[in-house]
Amino acid sequence: MIAVSQNLKGLFIGAGFFSRNHLHAWAEVEGAEIAAICDRDPQRAEAAAKEYGIAEWGTDAAMLQSGRFDFVDICTTMETHEALIALAVQAGVPVIVQKPMAPDLATCLRIEAQARAAGVPVMLHENFRFQKIFRRLREILSSGEIGEVTFGRLNWRNDIDVYTNQPYLIETKRFMIMDVGIHMLDLARYLLGDASEVSCFNQSVKEGIAGEDAATMLLRHDNKAVSVVDVSYASHKSPNLFPQTLGEIEGRLGTVEILEGQVLRIHTAAGRRDEVLAADGRSWTSEPWTQIQDSVPRTQQHFIDCLRSGRDFETSAGDSLKTYALAEAAYCSAATGRTVAIAELVKEF
Ligand SMILES: NC(=O)c1ccc[n+]([C@@H]2O[C@H](COP(=O)([O-])OP(=O)(O)OC[C@H]3O[C@@H](n4cnc5c(N)ncnc54)[C@H](O)[C@@H]3O)[C@@H](O)[C@H]2O)c1
Repeated sequence: MIAVSQNLKGLFIGAGFFSRNHLHAWAEVEGAEIAAICDRDPQRAEAAAKEYGIAEWGTDAAMLQSGRFDFVDICTTMETHEALIALAVQAGVPVIVQKPMAPDLATCLRIEAQARAAGVPVMLHENFRFQKIFRRLREILSSGEIGEVTFGRLNWRNDIDVYTNQPYLIETKRFMIMDVGIHMLDLARYLLGDASEVSCFNQSVKEGIAGEDAATMLLRHDNKAVSVVDVSYASHKSPNLFPQTLGEIEGRLGTVEILEGQVLRIHTAAGRRDEVLAADGRSWTSEPWTQIQDSVPRTQQHFIDCLRSGRDFETSAGDSLKTYALAEAAYCSAATGRTVAIAELVKEF
């Protein structure tokens, strides 16, 4: 627990494409502020410092070890996370890090073990579960209104041009499951509980990319519920459904459909009702990104609230290992053509 009356001072690393959402959000988060920003590209670091009124900027993440920071927000791509988190762990600085934690489960396990051994808290910036629609859906499930959950379907299928804003995805070998599938696997665990077996088929639909741009996963959850999780950047529809996650959750007493336009349709013996989740109305959000952008301040506020109170993060590195094990199992299943049990990959979490 960090018990201080002043704002916690953070270092922000990675002034790239997604950083503007974090930086706008930090200005809203209560109890924290960004004191310095770092990017190995000096122009990016300086421009972001100017735009967001950050007093200090630099190019070397070793500035993390100055003793002046209460936390670090790492907003770089996955292959850089192990080294950056190691710096934070050496410095004893709590971490919030963008998904994906790392490209494979072995690296995630190393990152988590080192942080745990040093007693340094690490949270994954896993913002999908912090979307308003999924907070409300979780409330409905927890209320018992549709009874014990037996089935789920979560899908993200659109053809947004991710390659212009995130050109590194063209070369990413573990692409769709790590980029969007990881959000869906976290949501599946959030809504249906932990899962123990995965089957998966991957597809590379777009020509000229290094990895898969579509994946269809089938999960067996610990309470025997089954879920289908499918993700694709190669699904052509008008209007484009980006960035909506659609689907349904069935329980023994009813069903909740997750429909277009942020609508939850709840079916129970008492009848049917719709709940529409409106956008928060921030000045810095814009379509089609609003639903995602609105979730970022909630994610970061959760990190700060937990740091201040000593509570566990919902998406701590330790808890998230269960999500990354599902992703690893999905790749293993896609490569071997068989169902993969989590117990084959990790004996115990
Ligand atoms: N949660 C979401 O909804 C969401 C959406 C988009 C992207 N992301 C994730 O955000 C992360 C960042 O994505 P992006 O598209 O902004 O990447 P990007 O490549 O545009 O930006 C990363 C920045 O980090 C800098 N950087 C990399 N290594 C560094 C180091 N060691 N020290 C200092 N600076 C360093 C780079 O110079 C670059 O400016 C990715 O992991 C991506 O998956 C999440």
